[in-house]
Amino acid sequence: MTKFNIAIDGPAGAGKSTIARKVAGELGFVYVDTGAMYRAVTWKVLQDGVNPLDTEAVARTAAGMKIELVPGPDGQLVFVDGRDVSSDIRTKLVTDRVSQIAAIAEVRKLLVDKQKQMAASKGIVMDGRDIGTHVLPDAEVKVFLTASVRKRAERRFQEVQGTAMATTLEEMEKDIARRDMLDEGREVSPLVQAADAVMLDSTDLTIPEVVESILEMCRMRTGGERA
Ligand code: CDP
Ligand code: CDP
Repeated sequence: MTKFNIAIDGPAGAGKSTIARKVAGELGFVYVDTGAMYRAVTWKVLQDGVNPLDTEAVARTAAGMKIELVPGPDGQLVFVDGRDVSSDIRTKLVTDRVSQIAAIAEVRKLLVDKQKQMAASKGIVMDGRDIGTHVLPDAEVKVFLTASVRKRAERRFQEVQGTAMATTLEEMEKDIARRDMLDEGREVSPLVQAADAVMLDSTDLTIPEVVESILEMCRMRTGGERA
């Protein structure tokens, strides 16, 4: 099938990574989780004891590190300077700081350049916050995936039950709402629906329903080629 790019944006817990991975699997495309790259920089900043408020020091850290995204059996693996940090970048410590680091213009420029390069050969499903608006403005299919804050918090709450990251539903909802506010309110590439993106509200949709909607958009886009 002809290769093209798919951009999936939206707030935390909307289902972006789950759905992007499945859509990529169905199409034989490569999935790229850009949030993992911002998390990797945040992890490195914390690991090296860099002050997250010192934007120049953070930008230097980002410029001096090597981030690799490698497809693994259970999703994308993330390496920083050769070390597998796939689990380390999902801790609450990193999650609480990531939106602050992602608001730094120099960090965004560095990562966006890398993301553009990754998508240059097409056949990419990329998820994040600014993919349809800034990273891949020419993506053939653009989706803005959302869901109510409550539902997104419930989904994340379910995920962390029984793990070291377990918390209350209220706490989870507060954390997600805070991250939404930072991501939507920042000056550089805020989280916003691209004018030409199709909005999908997954509050009452199952994962297969959302995947099927996106595959249908792909079929329409490619003039009915089998997706
Ligand atoms: O998976 P989850 O929705 O929790 O977040 P993520 O996709 O791992 O992204 C973590 C954070 O990175 C977001 O809250 C944003 O602050 C930032 N991010 C961004 O600014 N731009 C992107 N393209 C992707 C993520
Ligand atoms: O990447 P993002 O933060 O947008 O969300 P995710 O990590 O893919 O999804 C968060 C959780 O919601 C996962 O456990 C998904 O299995 C679940 N989910 C769901 O139950 N129903 C959907 N329609 C979408 C996601």
